Amino acid sequence: MTADELRKKYIEFFVAKNHAQIQGKSLLPDNDPTVLFTTAGMHPLVPYLLGEEHPAGNRLVNYQKCIRTGDIDSVGNTSHLTFFEMLGNWSLGDYFKEGAIEMSFEFLTSPQWLNIPVEKLGITVFEGDGDVERDDESVAAWRKMGIPENRIAYLPREDNWWGPAGSTGPCGPDSEMFYYIGDAPCKPDCKPGCSCGKWLEIWNDVFMQYNKNAEGEYIPLARKCVDTGMGIERTVTILNGLKSVYDTEIFAPVRGAVEQAAGYVYGTDEEKDKSVRIICDHLRASTFILGDPKAVSPSNVGAGYVLRRLIRRAVRHGRKLGISTSTPFLSPIAAILIEQMQGPYPELSENKANIIEELDREEKKFLETLQKGEHEFEKLLPNLLKDPRKIMPGRLAFKLYDTYGFPIELTEELALENSIKVNRDEFDEAFKKHQELSRAGSEQVFKGGLQDHGETTTKYHTATHLLHQALRTVLGDHVAQKGSNITAERLRFDFAHPAPMTAEEIKKVESIVNGQIEKDLSVTAQLMSLDEATASGAIALFGEKYESQVKVYTIGPAEGFFTKEVCGGPHVERTGVLGKFTIQKEQSSSAGVRRIRAVLG
Ligand code: ALA
Repeated sequence: MTADELRKKYIEFFVAKNHAQIQGKSLLPDNDPTVLFTTAGMHPLVPYLLGEEHPAGNRLVNYQKCIRTGDIDSVGNTSHLTFFEMLGNWSLGDYFKEGAIEMSFEFLTSPQWLNIPVEKLGITVFEGDGDVERDDESVAAWRKMGIPENRIAYLPREDNWWGPAGSTGPCGPDSEMFYYIGDAPCKPDCKPGCSCGKWLEIWNDVFMQYNKNAEGEYIPLARKCVDTGMGIERTVTILNGLKSVYDTEIFAPVRGAVEQAAGYVYGTDEEKDKSVRIICDHLRASTFILGDPKAVSPSNVGAGYVLRRLIRRAVRHGRKLGISTSTPFLSPIAAILIEQMQGPYPELSENKANIIEELDREEKKFLETLQKGEHEFEKLLPNLLKDPRKIMPGRLAFKLYDTYGFPIELTEELALENSIKVNRDEFDEAFKKHQELSRAGSEQVFKGGLQDHGETTTKYHTATHLLHQALRTVLGDHVAQKGSNITAERLRFDFAHPAPMTAEEIKKVESIVNGQIEKDLSVTAQLMSLDEATASGAIALFGEKYESQVKVYTIGPAEGFFTKEVCGGPHVERTGVLGKFTIQKEQSSSAGVRRIRAVLG
């Protein structure tokens, strides 16, 4: 079965079970400072999991592009992917554990659908702890489906719990479905978690059943939800009797192109195979980031930094494979991927020019970095050669890495050419320290998290609509939202505008927003089709995909409103509660895009 077939079958199955198909969303989430990328299908649905009514109903299904980048330097090597596609179905207060498990089981095992032999499946459930009891309800549902006890593993919170770690919000136990990729289970009671390591997780049913409050108590939710996620690449792997995602048809075109560029046949050298896999994975992730309607460019911060690392790591592994670096090698392979994936993701061909241009630019830039690093190394060389032990201190190698982005492997290579050995232990120590520091800083963003719907952030959401309209009034209708990011401390708004704003323009915008706040306008929401919304004067984000029914927030009276915008919310009920609006900063964000930082006080 191909990825296309699996995607279609999944949607077809859940539509037949009365689910509405909704659009997958951008890889770059708006309004959520807790994550850099969309990490799961549930991510864009958080407001609805928290109680908002979804325009499409309370049974939903979709496919969603996702990126997870815990630590890029250690992923992309085996079956671990940074970019992957997730199939998901949701119940918003409709069916719960039994219904979800019945449907999962039917889809996996029915000859009409995936036809997976039951004996190949293993299930995990939450084992319970001092706070929440064991998930016996899920166990009972699996037993009813005919899963034997020796195929059910009870695992702790770190394995079978989904929700905000250490903070408040909706959460609950999950039940994961695994497939055994060995030939026969290693022992009669071999189950997920077994030391044979042959169980591949393919699907996760999450049961959002509690709200964790500030006191750390788990309060049962009135409206329980189901959130599920099936990995397309892994499922296609097992359905075709394969052991690695890189052996599937999904990777065949890209892998083939990498092999051809390198003049190497995959499967003949483990070290080189690893490089091929890393290039395949990182190039897919980079292409999807650059092909997104909200694409970022490679940079030194946030999502742009992740993108930079993905591209550079792919280039580095290209060099390892002996691919000539005189002309960029990534973009021709990206073109093949775009061709392959444009059916389910038409945005890739729409943004092809951006993908190719940015990949080429970053690849060239990295090659300059490498040249610079080599030059710096040569400057160090005379001193290094004076050392009778011929050892290069790890801290010097780390400095080349940290300051010039020069990879340690290349430092080692150059050193070796001069019979010098790099003190790798010292380098590793410095590197580890650096990683711990950056990880501590980015823990929040990499973990994935739930959008903050606190009172203050809700106010900022409404203030953002006022700002958007005020900018259009003052600067013109070309002002289109390019990005929005809200925390409890401030709002940040990126918009298309070719020049810096003048002090007078800034003042005007502020005074319009404050004027609307003083009028204490009502904020109301209505459901309608996207066509109706735009016909009624609502602003919708260009390039964003919407459901057939969208929510439109109007600020002001129905006739003579101040602003109307397609938006998932949440918003305050009246503008009077916002307080005083102040623009703190107006600066460039990227070419043709300005960025405003504003606070409410
Ligand atoms: N949100 C759940 C996951 O990503 C389904 O595993």
